[in-house]
Amino acid sequence: MDEDMDPRIGNRSLSRVVYRADQIQTRVGELAAEIHQGLPEEDPLLLVGLLKGSFIFLADLVRSIPRPLEVDFLRVASYGTGRESSGTVELVHDVEASLNGRSVVIVEDIIDSGTTLQWLLPRLRARGPKRLEVCALLHKDRVTLDPPARWVGFHAPNEFLVGYGLDHAEAFRHLPYIGALES
Ligand code: IMP
Ligand code: MG
Repeated sequence: MDEDMDPRIGNRSLSRVVYRADQIQTRVGELAAEIHQGLPEEDPLLLVGLLKGSFIFLADLVRSIPRPLEVDFLRVASYGTGRESSGTVELVHDVEASLNGRSVVIVEDIIDSGTTLQWLLPRLRARGPKRLEVCALLHKDRVTLDPPARWVGFHAPNEFLVGYGLDHAEAFRHLPYIGALES
């Protein structure tokens, strides 16, 4: 599926392509190298993907990090089927792996209001990871996380983006590129 296809789904379509598949792949490779260089090799590495949006990003990322690592997932709900954060966050599926003593990287598709991570990070930090870092493919920069996300793929425009794992009402996740939803 390339960027020229009209990815109309139902009555929704995209206004434009924001990040092409090849741009994403290049940037994901860079992020993987930065993660590898930024974390000591002797510490066990665990990447935790936030479902569902990060599943494609995480899959590409782990294949470019040149060291042994483990993968786990958690799912929080902070968005309904619409475009705006509900403001309340709920843990729907917890990590199974222990975080204790490990270098833990939370892999997120997009940081928008920051509500999800501001809620989640203290709860994960309480489980005693040696390090807790965030790698987000996209960051809308409406807010600055404290501490900030250590690795960010792209500083994204303040539009609703879909594709490469990101959805609108569960549609568009499968696109290999990222586009802006027509308003
Ligand atoms: P936050 O809590 O406002 O930072 O939002 C985080 C979550 O909202 C992300 O993990 C996404 O699931 C969702 N989200 C925020 N902005 C977008 C967007 O532009 N497209 C798709 N999902 C988004
Ligand atoms: Mg998400």
